[in-house]
Amino acid sequence: MQTADVTEELARRVVAAAGRALDVELTPDQALIQASPREGVDYQGNLAMSLGKRLGRPPREVAGLIAGALELGGIADPPEIAGPGFLNFVLRGEWLEARTGALLGDPRLGVPETAAPRRVALDYSSPNVAKEMHVGHLRSSVIGDALARLLRFAGHEVLPHNHLGDWGTPFGMLIEHLLDVSAGQRAIADLDAFYREARRKFDSDEAFATRARTRVVRLQSGDEDTLAVWQELVDESTRHFDEVYALLGISLTDKDIYGESFYNPYLASVVEDLEKAGLTDVSDGAVCVFPEGFRNREGDRLPLIVRKRDGGYGYAATDLATVRYWTAERGATDLVYVVGTPQAQHFAMLFAICREAGWLTGHAEHVGFGTVLGADGKTMRTRAGETVKLADLLTEAVTQAAAVVAERSELDAAVQAEVARAVGIGAVKYADLSGDRERDYVFAWDRMLAKEGNTSVYLQYAHARTRSILRKAGGLPGGTDVLLEAPEERALALKLLRFGEALKAATSGYAPHKLCTYLYETAVIFSRFFEECPVLKASSPELRDSRLRLTELTSRTLALGLSLLGIEAPEQL
Ligand code: ARG
Repeated sequence: MQTADVTEELARRVVAAAGRALDVELTPDQALIQASPREGVDYQGNLAMSLGKRLGRPPREVAGLIAGALELGGIADPPEIAGPGFLNFVLRGEWLEARTGALLGDPRLGVPETAAPRRVALDYSSPNVAKEMHVGHLRSSVIGDALARLLRFAGHEVLPHNHLGDWGTPFGMLIEHLLDVSAGQRAIADLDAFYREARRKFDSDEAFATRARTRVVRLQSGDEDTLAVWQELVDESTRHFDEVYALLGISLTDKDIYGESFYNPYLASVVEDLEKAGLTDVSDGAVCVFPEGFRNREGDRLPLIVRKRDGGYGYAATDLATVRYWTAERGATDLVYVVGTPQAQHFAMLFAICREAGWLTGHAEHVGFGTVLGADGKTMRTRAGETVKLADLLTEAVTQAAAVVAERSELDAAVQAEVARAVGIGAVKYADLSGDRERDYVFAWDRMLAKEGNTSVYLQYAHARTRSILRKAGGLPGGTDVLLEAPEERALALKLLRFGEALKAATSGYAPHKLCTYLYETAVIFSRFFEECPVLKASSPELRDSRLRLTELTSRTLALGLSLLGIEAPEQL
């Protein structure tokens, strides 16, 4: 079964009515239908105000005419006209019952696939070789992974790519250092320590620095022995990254790696194309593009440097190549880059230039995110002042979660350990996803592992409770009849029918937190239902079955919603 969501369905009918009554042509969006915050009202249509202005007629009169022409097909009672001209809709009980019951047979829970699939190139995670992944990469990985899941579920094609920082001048010193330390064994236990040591030698040892510089030139000219050592560094680092991805349950694999080095062969022609298009200027020996509309405080135009004075290419040139590659060679209609907000200007300039160059005609989005802060409100660091390693952080999350789970769990040890993993990793991910991503957030164990409030633990408990009720009932009864008599039943059904609206908002706005909020509200409404409406001890078999069906739908909504965020929903907690 695939159906339009309620908003869409009402919108279509309101627009049709407006067409009949007022001879205007509107798109469904212009019906301005939304869930109503008012008690006793389910949806409201807000179009009469603007339409009245446009037609030069009193909005209440316009609302009245639309209401008079409405054909609702049993969805809702004729709307009441409120205030300046709101159309207030109350859904019909029978319709709501039938719609809810129909969800039971639909693995997609009433959420349609898009009629207009896009091909989305999605850049996320993107850590740097020979450096440990840090919390910034955690955010990119977690948000990017959730977006990949949401986009795919909506029916879009996703081309994930991991833009590894695997090229550039530091590789001279890193390669030399690896050669120095690796007479026999070459495993690097600690990437950050390795990087720091290379840097220390580079800064203090002139001979080493000279070797490093020569090595960069060899690397860039494609010297095979040098490339082999470079490859070792890359492999060693990806081994570390893969460990983190495995812990996080993130599906990025080695075939998704399109590091900076991948774009090397494209860079010369990128610059050539820009030169041919007359977009470049030479400034101080460097080839630059000054895109329209970017100026510093003094009013000077800002450059994106595409080729440095020494002939080398940098981060910006590489990103220009990514745009051209994913659009022209891979046919992406949408480009999405999940990278921290400090790079907002870089991406704004990048997109502007690519549009000027004609490489970008579709949609491009920089999905920015704020910083993870420590308890002191500053960028999160270890006590020793170092950046926190992701692997350590995730291990700690599982340890902390194990304590929380042990408090009330009666599960045996092996199951408990598995559950602790799902809870701990879920908590870290959810903390990352549940706030508006543009904001910074404070990393606090007690808050993210709280059993009450908008946390993944709360959602996982709610889900486990639904499973336990269904187990006790001996499973879900056949049939699809749903009875919505108590207000708590009605509220729960209505919320379950809004899953698609929440997913749409989360996906189109690259805003996973909107799905989090929806799931949290659903769990709260479920717990009210559970308090007020006995399920196993319902007053009649019909009511018991109906309540079990509502429990089942809640269960599936929470599990599917969490899975689209990349979070597991254990059967038992
Ligand atoms: N490696 C970069 C960093 O750690 C992020 C790369 C993001 N992607 C891109 N195409 N620029 O900051």
